[in-house]
Amino acid sequence: MKFAEITGWGKCVPPAVMTNNDLATFLDTSDEWIRTRTGIEERRVSAVGTSALATVAARNALAAADLDPLEIDLIIVGTCTADEIIPNVASKVQQEIGAKNAAAFDLNAACSSFFYAMHFATSSIRMGMHKKVLIIGAERLTRILDWTKRESAVLFGDGAGAMVLEASDNHAGLLASKVSCDADARDVLSLDFGMSFDRYNFDGVMPFNFIGQEIFKRAVKGMSAAVEAVFQETGLSVDDIDVLIPHQANKRLIDFLAKMCKVPEEKTMVNIQKYGNTSSATLPIAYTEALETGMVKPGDSIISAVFGGGLTCGAGLIKWGERVTPLQNNQMTLEQGANQSALDLILPLFEGAKAAAAKAES
Ligand code: ACO
Repeated sequence: MKFAEITGWGKCVPPAVMTNNDLATFLDTSDEWIRTRTGIEERRVSAVGTSALATVAARNALAAADLDPLEIDLIIVGTCTADEIIPNVASKVQQEIGAKNAAAFDLNAACSSFFYAMHFATSSIRMGMHKKVLIIGAERLTRILDWTKRESAVLFGDGAGAMVLEASDNHAGLLASKVSCDADARDVLSLDFGMSFDRYNFDGVMPFNFIGQEIFKRAVKGMSAAVEAVFQETGLSVDDIDVLIPHQANKRLIDFLAKMCKVPEEKTMVNIQKYGNTSSATLPIAYTEALETGMVKPGDSIISAVFGGGLTCGAGLIKWGERVTPLQNNQMTLEQGANQSALDLILPLFEGAKAAAAKAES
Protein backbone atom coordinates (compact mmCIF):
# COMPACT_ATOMS: atom_id res chain seq x y z
CA MET A 1 0.00 0.00 0.00
CA LYS A 2 1.23 3.50 -0.87
CA PHE A 3 1.74 6.30 1.65
CA ALA A 4 0.40 9.84 1.15
CA GLU A 5 3.54 11.93 1.45
CA ILE A 6 3.26 15.71 1.86
CA THR A 7 5.33 17.12 -1.00
CA GLY A 8 4.06 20.70 -1.22
CA TRP A 9 2.93 23.40 1.20
CA GLY A 10 2.08 27.07 1.03
CA LYS A 11 0.00 29.86 2.51
CA CYS A 12 -1.78 33.10 1.68
CA VAL A 13 -2.31 35.75 4.32
CA PRO A 14 -4.04 38.97 3.21
CA PRO A 15 -2.01 42.19 3.55
CA ALA A 16 -4.34 44.23 5.83
CA VAL A 17 -3.38 43.85 9.51
CA MET A 18 -5.78 44.65 12.35
CA THR A 19 -4.12 44.96 15.75
CA ASN A 20 -5.82 44.59 19.13
CA ASN A 21 -5.46 48.35 19.55
CA ASP A 22 -7.31 48.88 16.24
CA LEU A 23 -10.18 46.77 17.63
CA ALA A 24 -10.21 48.82 20.83
CA THR A 25 -10.99 51.95 18.78
CA PHE A 26 -14.56 50.69 18.19
CA LEU A 27 -15.11 47.82 20.66
CA ASP A 28 -15.08 47.86 24.46
CA THR A 29 -11.94 45.72 24.67
CA SER A 30 -8.21 46.08 25.22
CA ASP A 31 -4.92 44.71 23.95
CA GLU A 32 -4.24 43.42 27.47
CA TRP A 33 -7.53 41.44 27.69
CA ILE A 34 -7.16 39.85 24.26
CA ARG A 35 -3.47 39.06 24.66
CA THR A 36 -3.78 37.46 28.12
CA ARG A 37 -6.96 35.45 27.41
CA THR A 38 -6.12 34.27 23.90
CA GLY A 39 -2.49 35.04 22.93
CA ILE A 40 -3.69 37.01 19.88
CA GLU A 41 -1.92 40.29 19.03
CA GLU A 42 -3.18 40.92 15.50
CA ARG A 43 -5.11 39.27 12.67
CA ARG A 44 -5.47 39.73 8.87
CA VAL A 45 -8.54 41.05 7.06
CA SER A 46 -9.18 40.09 3.45
CA ALA A 47 -10.57 42.43 0.80
CA VAL A 48 -11.24 39.45 -1.49
CA GLY A 49 -13.21 36.21 -1.31
CA THR A 50 -12.21 32.84 0.10
CA SER A 51 -11.50 31.34 -3.34
CA ALA A 52 -8.94 34.08 -4.13
CA LEU A 53 -7.08 33.28 -0.89
CA ALA A 54 -7.35 29.54 -1.60
CA THR A 55 -5.95 29.99 -5.12
CA VAL A 56 -2.76 31.75 -3.98
CA ALA A 57 -2.18 29.13 -1.25
CA ALA A 58 -2.74 26.38 -3.85
CA ARG A 59 -0.24 27.93 -6.29
CA ASN A 60 2.36 28.10 -3.51
CA ALA A 61 1.83 24.46 -2.53
CA LEU A 62 2.11 23.35 -6.18
CA ALA A 63 5.35 25.38 -6.54
CA ALA A 64 6.80 23.74 -3.42
CA ALA A 65 6.02 20.31 -4.95
CA ASP A 66 7.09 21.48 -8.44
CA LEU A 67 3.95 19.90 -9.85
CA ASP A 68 2.04 20.60 -13.06
CA PRO A 69 -1.60 21.35 -12.03
CA LEU A 70 -2.77 18.90 -14.72
CA GLU A 71 -1.35 16.08 -12.59
CA ILE A 72 -3.66 16.86 -9.67
CA ASP A 73 -6.58 14.40 -9.62
CA LEU A 74 -8.52 15.75 -6.62
CA ILE A 75 -8.95 19.14 -4.92
CA ILE A 76 -10.58 19.38 -1.48
CA VAL A 77 -11.21 22.79 0.04
CA GLY A 78 -11.98 22.87 3.76
CA THR A 79 -14.03 25.99 4.47
CA CYS A 80 -17.08 27.32 6.29
CA THR A 81 -16.96 30.63 4.40
CA ALA A 82 -17.49 29.64 0.77
CA ASP A 83 -18.04 32.62 -1.56
CA GLU A 84 -21.26 31.05 -2.85
CA ILE A 85 -23.35 28.04 -1.80
CA ILE A 86 -23.12 26.77 -5.42
CA PRO A 87 -20.69 26.36 -7.12
CA ASN A 88 -18.08 25.34 -4.57
CA VAL A 89 -14.73 27.01 -3.86
CA ALA A 90 -12.78 23.94 -5.06
CA SER A 91 -14.14 24.32 -8.62
CA LYS A 92 -12.99 27.97 -8.67
CA VAL A 93 -9.50 26.89 -7.58
CA GLN A 94 -9.51 24.17 -10.25
CA GLN A 95 -10.39 26.79 -12.89
CA GLU A 96 -7.88 29.38 -11.66
CA ILE A 97 -4.87 27.03 -11.48
CA GLY A 98 -5.86 25.02 -14.57
CA ALA A 99 -6.15 21.65 -12.82
CA LYS A 100 -8.56 20.34 -15.46
CA ASN A 101 -8.15 16.68 -14.49
CA ALA A 102 -9.13 17.12 -10.85
CA ALA A 103 -12.41 16.31 -9.14
CA ALA A 104 -13.25 19.16 -6.80
CA PHE A 105 -15.33 19.48 -3.67
CA ASP A 106 -15.65 21.53 -0.47
CA LEU A 107 -15.78 20.07 3.01
CA ASN A 108 -17.18 21.84 6.07
CA ALA A 109 -16.17 20.64 9.52
CA ALA A 110 -15.60 24.27 10.71
CA CYS A 111 -12.09 24.71 12.15
CA SER A 112 -11.40 20.98 11.74
CA SER A 113 -12.02 21.05 7.98
CA PHE A 114 -8.40 20.99 6.83
CA PHE A 115 -7.55 18.07 9.10
CA TYR A 116 -10.68 16.21 7.97
CA ALA A 117 -9.52 16.84 4.36
CA MET A 118 -6.09 15.43 5.18
CA HIS A 119 -7.67 12.37 6.78
CA PHE A 120 -9.91 11.56 3.78
CA ALA A 121 -7.35 12.53 1.12
CA THR A 122 -4.80 10.25 2.77
CA SER A 123 -7.21 7.33 2.90
CA SER A 124 -8.16 7.76 -0.75
CA ILE A 125 -4.48 7.81 -1.77
CA ARG A 126 -3.71 4.78 0.41
CA MET A 127 -6.67 2.92 -1.14
CA GLY A 128 -5.29 3.72 -4.62
CA MET A 129 -8.29 5.85 -5.64
CA HIS A 130 -6.28 9.07 -6.11
CA LYS A 131 -2.60 9.80 -6.67
CA LYS A 132 -2.00 13.53 -6.30
CA VAL A 133 -4.36 15.50 -4.12
CA LEU A 134 -4.42 19.21 -3.33
CA ILE A 135 -5.96 20.00 0.07
CA ILE A 136 -6.69 23.56 1.11
CA GLY A 137 -8.00 25.33 4.21
CA ALA A 138 -9.31 28.81 3.35
CA GLU A 139 -11.52 31.26 5.22
CA ARG A 140 -12.80 34.81 5.07
CA LEU A 141 -14.28 34.81 8.56
CA THR A 142 -14.26 38.58 8.96
CA ARG A 143 -17.35 38.74 6.68
CA ILE A 144 -19.49 36.50 8.87
CA LEU A 145 -18.68 37.87 12.34
CA ASP A 146 -20.97 40.13 14.30
CA TRP A 147 -18.57 43.05 14.81
CA THR A 148 -20.56 44.40 17.77
CA LYS A 149 -19.85 41.23 19.82
CA ARG A 150 -16.48 41.61 21.51
CA GLU A 151 -16.52 38.05 22.93
CA SER A 152 -16.20 36.52 19.45
CA ALA A 153 -15.14 39.35 17.10
CA VAL A 154 -11.64 39.62 18.60
CA LEU A 155 -10.81 35.94 18.04
CA PHE A 156 -10.86 35.40 14.29
CA GLY A 157 -9.01 36.37 11.11
CA ASP A 158 -8.74 35.55 7.39
CA GLY A 159 -6.23 33.39 5.52
CA ALA A 160 -5.53 30.21 3.60
CA GLY A 161 -3.04 27.36 3.46
CA ALA A 162 -2.58 24.33 1.25
CA MET A 163 -0.71 21.04 0.90
CA VAL A 164 -0.02 18.60 -1.94
CA LEU A 165 -0.26 14.92 -0.98
CA GLU A 166 1.27 12.37 -3.38
CA ALA A 167 1.17 8.57 -3.49
CA SER A 168 4.64 7.47 -2.41
CA ASP A 169 6.65 4.45 -1.29
CA ASN A 170 8.27 6.54 1.45
CA HIS A 171 7.05 5.86 4.98
CA ALA A 172 5.69 9.42 5.32
CA GLY A 173 2.52 11.48 5.61
CA LEU A 174 -0.45 10.99 7.90
CA LEU A 175 0.21 7.58 9.49
CA ALA A 176 -2.63 7.51 12.02
CA SER A 177 -5.61 9.74 12.65
CA LYS A 178 -8.83 10.00 14.58
CA VAL A 179 -11.73 12.27 13.66
CA SER A 180 -14.88 12.66 15.73
CA CYS A 181 -17.93 14.84 16.35
CA ASP A 182 -19.57 15.80 19.65
CA ALA A 183 -22.96 16.73 18.17
CA ASP A 184 -24.60 17.33 21.57
CA ALA A 185 -22.64 20.58 21.50
CA ARG A 186 -23.79 21.66 18.03
CA ASP A 187 -25.41 24.78 19.44
CA VAL A 188 -22.45 26.21 21.36
CA LEU A 189 -20.90 27.42 18.11
CA SER A 190 -23.37 28.12 15.35
CA LEU A 191 -24.15 30.53 12.56
CA ASP A 192 -27.64 30.06 11.16
CA PHE A 193 -27.25 31.23 7.59
CA GLY A 194 -27.94 28.14 5.52
CA MET A 195 -31.15 26.89 3.91
CA SER A 196 -32.91 26.99 7.32
CA PHE A 197 -32.36 30.73 7.56
CA ASP A 198 -35.42 32.92 6.95
CA ARG A 199 -33.64 35.37 4.66
CA TYR A 200 -36.88 36.88 3.31
CA ASN A 201 -37.98 38.11 6.74
CA PHE A 202 -34.65 39.29 8.06
CA ASP A 203 -32.60 42.42 7.55
CA GLY A 204 -30.27 42.28 10.57
CA VAL A 205 -26.92 40.69 11.35
CA MET A 206 -26.38 36.96 10.97
CA PRO A 207 -26.96 35.37 14.40
CA PHE A 208 -23.55 34.04 15.49
CA ASN A 209 -23.90 31.90 18.60
CA PHE A 210 -20.60 31.44 20.46
CA ILE A 211 -20.37 30.11 24.03
CA GLY A 212 -16.62 30.43 24.58
CA GLN A 213 -16.20 28.61 27.89
CA GLU A 214 -18.30 25.61 26.80
CA ILE A 215 -16.32 25.37 23.54
CA PHE A 216 -13.09 25.54 25.53
CA LYS A 217 -14.09 22.69 27.89
CA ARG A 218 -15.32 20.45 25.07
CA ALA A 219 -12.24 21.22 22.95
CA VAL A 220 -9.91 20.10 25.74
CA LYS A 221 -11.87 16.87 26.20
CA GLY A 222 -12.22 16.12 22.47
CA MET A 223 -8.62 16.85 21.50
CA SER A 224 -7.19 14.86 24.44
CA ALA A 225 -9.31 11.84 23.49
CA ALA A 226 -8.25 12.11 19.83
CA VAL A 227 -4.55 12.37 20.73
CA GLU A 228 -4.87 9.36 23.08
CA ALA A 229 -6.57 7.37 20.29
CA VAL A 230 -3.68 8.16 17.91
CA PHE A 231 -1.11 7.03 20.48
CA GLN A 232 -3.04 3.81 21.03
CA GLU A 233 -3.29 3.10 17.31
CA THR A 234 0.40 3.71 16.61
CA GLY A 235 1.79 2.28 19.83
CA LEU A 236 3.77 5.51 20.15
CA SER A 237 3.97 7.69 23.23
CA VAL A 238 4.73 11.32 24.01
CA ASP A 239 8.45 10.43 24.06
CA ASP A 240 8.33 9.72 20.31
CA ILE A 241 6.96 13.15 19.31
CA ASP A 242 9.35 15.73 17.85
CA VAL A 243 6.99 18.61 17.03
CA LEU A 244 3.44 19.73 17.94
CA ILE A 245 1.48 21.64 15.28
CA PRO A 246 -2.03 22.27 16.66
CA HIS A 247 -5.09 24.28 15.59
CA GLN A 248 -4.58 27.91 16.63
CA ALA A 249 -7.73 28.96 18.53
CA ASN A 250 -6.40 30.00 21.91
CA LYS A 251 -2.84 30.05 23.29
CA ARG A 252 -4.08 28.52 26.56
CA LEU A 253 -5.41 25.52 24.62
CA ILE A 254 -2.11 25.16 22.78
CA ASP A 255 -0.22 25.26 26.10
CA PHE A 256 -2.53 22.56 27.47
CA LEU A 257 -1.79 20.30 24.48
CA ALA A 258 1.96 20.94 24.68
CA LYS A 259 1.92 19.93 28.35
CA MET A 260 -0.14 16.84 27.59
CA CYS A 261 2.23 15.77 24.78
CA LYS A 262 5.33 16.86 26.77
CA VAL A 263 6.55 18.95 23.83
CA PRO A 264 8.82 21.89 24.78
CA GLU A 265 8.04 25.45 23.75
CA GLU A 266 10.65 25.53 20.97
CA LYS A 267 9.02 22.47 19.35
CA THR A 268 5.43 23.75 19.59
CA MET A 269 4.24 25.74 16.59
CA VAL A 270 2.48 28.93 17.73
CA ASN A 271 1.52 31.72 15.33
CA ILE A 272 -1.87 32.70 16.79
CA GLN A 273 -0.32 36.03 17.85
CA LYS A 274 -0.06 37.04 14.16
CA TYR A 275 -3.25 35.68 12.65
CA GLY A 276 -5.81 34.85 15.37
CA ASN A 277 -8.06 31.89 14.62
CA THR A 278 -8.32 31.45 10.83
CA SER A 279 -10.43 28.29 11.29
CA SER A 280 -9.59 25.66 8.66
CA ALA A 281 -6.57 27.70 7.53
CA THR A 282 -4.69 27.60 10.84
CA LEU A 283 -3.19 24.14 10.34
CA PRO A 284 -1.73 24.51 6.81
CA ILE A 285 -0.47 28.04 7.61
CA ALA A 286 1.16 26.69 10.78
CA TYR A 287 2.79 23.78 8.89
CA THR A 288 4.08 26.16 6.22
CA GLU A 289 5.62 28.49 8.82
CA ALA A 290 7.04 25.58 10.83
CA LEU A 291 8.86 24.50 7.66
CA GLU A 292 9.94 28.06 6.81
CA THR A 293 11.45 28.55 10.26
CA GLY A 294 13.25 25.17 10.33
CA MET A 295 11.14 23.78 13.19
CA VAL A 296 10.37 20.65 11.17
CA LYS A 297 13.38 18.43 10.40
CA PRO A 298 13.56 15.50 7.94
CA GLY A 299 11.88 12.39 9.36
CA ASP A 300 10.23 14.22 12.29
CA SER A 301 7.16 12.77 13.99
CA ILE A 302 4.56 15.51 14.28
CA ILE A 303 1.34 15.48 16.28
CA SER A 304 -1.57 17.70 15.25
CA ALA A 305 -4.90 18.25 17.02
CA VAL A 306 -7.90 20.30 15.94
CA PHE A 307 -11.47 21.16 16.95
CA GLY A 308 -14.24 23.32 15.57
CA GLY A 309 -17.99 23.90 15.28
CA GLY A 310 -20.03 20.71 15.27
CA LEU A 311 -18.18 20.21 17.62
CA THR A 312 -15.77 18.40 15.36
CA CYS A 313 -12.42 17.12 16.62
CA GLY A 314 -9.39 15.37 15.26
CA ALA A 315 -5.78 14.39 15.87
CA GLY A 316 -3.12 12.77 13.78
CA LEU A 317 0.45 11.59 13.64
CA ILE A 318 2.34 12.90 10.63
CA LYS A 319 5.74 11.52 9.69
CA TRP A 320 7.61 14.14 7.69
CA GLY A 321 9.61 12.99 4.64
CA GLU A 322 13.20 13.81 3.71
CA ARG A 323 12.56 17.16 2.03
CA VAL A 324 11.84 20.22 4.17
CA THR A 325 12.47 22.90 1.55
CA PRO A 326 10.26 23.86 -1.42
CA LEU A 327 11.38 22.80 -4.90
CA GLN A 328 10.27 26.15 -6.36
CA ASN A 329 9.69 29.52 -4.71
CA ASN A 330 6.39 29.27 -2.77
CA GLN A 331 6.18 32.86 -1.52
CA MET A 332 3.50 34.26 -3.87
CA THR A 333 1.30 36.81 -2.13
CA LEU A 334 -2.13 38.30 -2.63
CA GLU A 335 -1.89 41.61 -4.39
CA GLN A 336 -5.56 42.60 -4.41
CA GLY A 337 -6.67 44.83 -1.54
CA ALA A 338 -3.18 45.97 -0.60
CA ASN A 339 -4.30 49.63 -0.54
CA GLN A 340 -7.16 49.12 1.95
CA SER A 341 -6.56 49.17 5.71
CA ALA A 342 -8.19 46.62 8.00
CA LEU A 343 -10.28 49.38 9.59
CA ASP A 344 -11.45 50.55 6.12
CA LEU A 345 -12.74 47.03 5.57
CA ILE A 346 -14.26 46.38 9.01
CA LEU A 347 -15.79 49.69 10.12
CA PRO A 348 -18.65 49.60 7.55
CA LEU A 349 -19.51 46.10 8.79
CA PHE A 350 -19.44 47.29 12.41
CA GLU A 351 -21.70 50.27 11.60
CA GLY A 352 -24.11 48.00 9.70
CA ALA A 353 -24.28 45.56 12.62
CA LYS A 354 -24.86 48.39 15.09
CA ALA A 355 -27.68 49.85 12.98
CA ALA A 356 -29.31 46.42 12.61
CA ALA A 357 -29.15 45.83 16.37
CA ALA A 358 -30.72 49.27 17.05
CA LYS A 359 -33.49 48.54 14.54
CA ALA A 360 -34.20 45.14 16.12
CA GLU A 361 -34.51 46.78 19.56
CA SER A 362 -36.87 49.59 18.48
N1 ACO B 1 -12.64 42.29 25.73
C1 ACO B 1 -12.82 42.59 27.03
N2 ACO B 1 -13.62 41.88 27.84
C2 ACO B 1 -14.25 40.80 27.32
C3 ACO B 1 -14.11 40.43 25.96
C4 ACO B 1 -13.26 41.23 25.16
N3 ACO B 1 -13.04 40.97 23.86
N4 ACO B 1 -14.86 39.35 25.73
C5 ACO B 1 -15.44 39.02 26.89
N5 ACO B 1 -15.09 39.91 27.85
C6 ACO B 1 -15.49 39.95 29.26
C7 ACO B 1 -16.78 39.20 29.52
O1 ACO B 1 -17.89 40.05 29.27
C8 ACO B 1 -16.62 38.83 30.98
O2 ACO B 1 -16.95 39.96 31.75
P1 ACO B 1 -17.70 39.80 33.19
O3 ACO B 1 -16.76 39.00 34.02
O4 ACO B 1 -17.88 41.20 33.63
O5 ACO B 1 -18.97 39.08 32.87
C9 ACO B 1 -15.13 38.58 31.15
O6 ACO B 1 -14.49 39.25 30.01
C10 ACO B 1 -14.74 37.11 31.13
O7 ACO B 1 -15.36 36.47 30.02
P2 ACO B 1 -15.23 34.90 29.80
O8 ACO B 1 -16.08 34.49 28.65
O9 ACO B 1 -15.38 34.20 31.11
O10 ACO B 1 -13.70 34.79 29.36
P3 ACO B 1 -12.84 33.49 29.17
O11 ACO B 1 -11.71 33.52 30.08
O12 ACO B 1 -13.67 32.25 29.12
O13 ACO B 1 -12.26 33.70 27.70
C11 ACO B 1 -12.57 33.03 25.41
C12 ACO B 1 -13.14 33.80 26.59
C13 ACO B 1 -11.26 33.64 25.02
C14 ACO B 1 -13.55 33.15 24.25
C15 ACO B 1 -12.39 31.55 25.79
O14 ACO B 1 -13.56 31.03 26.38
C16 ACO B 1 -12.02 30.70 24.62
O15 ACO B 1 -10.97 30.84 24.06
N6 ACO B 1 -12.87 29.74 24.25
C17 ACO B 1 -12.61 28.87 23.15
C18 ACO B 1 -12.96 29.56 21.89
C19 ACO B 1 -12.35 28.89 20.76
O16 ACO B 1 -11.27 28.40 20.87
N7 ACO B 1 -13.03 28.82 19.65
C20 ACO B 1 -12.49 28.20 18.51
C21 ACO B 1 -13.45 27.43 17.81
S1 ACO B 1 -14.13 28.43 16.62
C22 ACO B 1 -14.52 27.51 15.27
O17 ACO B 1 -14.46 26.33 15.29
C23 ACO B 1 -15.06 28.29 14.08
